[in-house]
Amino acid sequence: MSETITIALSKGRIFKETLPLLKAAGIEPLDDPETSRKLILDTNRDEVKLVIIRATDVPTYVQFGAADIGVAGKDVLMEHGGEGLYEPVDLNIARCKLMVAGRKGERQDVARLRIATKYVNSTRRYYAQQGKQVEVIKLYGSMELAPIVGLADYIVDVVDTGNTLKANGLEPLEHIADISSRLIVNKASMKMKHARIQQLIDKMQAAVK
Ligand code: ATP
Ligand code: PRP
Repeated sequence: MSETITIALSKGRIFKETLPLLKAAGIEPLDDPETSRKLILDTNRDEVKLVIIRATDVPTYVQFGAADIGVAGKDVLMEHGGEGLYEPVDLNIARCKLMVAGRKGERQDVARLRIATKYVNSTRRYYAQQGKQVEVIKLYGSMELAPIVGLADYIVDVVDTGNTLKANGLEPLEHIADISSRLIVNKASMKMKHARIQQLIDKMQAAVK
């Protein structure tokens, strides 16, 4: 039997939107991560396994070779830095925008803005490029709350429909980056398992809309 190929995915939108692309490459999971408690899923192919992990952990698993391949949002990759990874395919799924947002109708005019975000590195980079001094406050979720309760002047978060911002009295202010999910590959795996990984890349690329 040939060596296993391990693919790292997160539950939810990335898993759902990657399924048709994997199917096009002849890979179908035998379990549904939404209902199964398993973290390693078998597929219809004996030599292909899926590992189900947090979205922000996907680049780490692939970087260290715990998974050969993964699917991660560009927001997560920008934050991780991309070390040890190839990023051969834009899968054009889970599309959104990384944005600065703040309270509707208000602009903050302070010397040193306070920005709440889980995207600490991308936020520092964005403001540094503009020569602006900011204080970045690390959060792990529910960023929209921060400006409402006075924890921060602005937030940096992903925005799709804008409904979450609107529901919390916020509005988008500045566009930082367009985001979609990417296929990522461990650099050593790309060499060692080249033929099979290249075939997978080609089939998934061909299935991208
Ligand atoms: P976790 O639940 O582990 O904290 P998460 O909430 O970021 O992670 P998801 O919500 O599944 O995980 O998001 C996965 C990726 O999908 C994000 O990294 C981003 O690229 C993209 N994404 C996030 N929110 C949206 C959205 N509302 N619409 C479209 N794409 C989104
Ligand atoms: C993400 C993100 C925003 C929201 C933006 O959260 O952190 O809060 O989506 O999407 P919107 O502009 O369409 O409102 P989460 O992953 O919880 O989004 P979900 O509501 O799609 O689950």
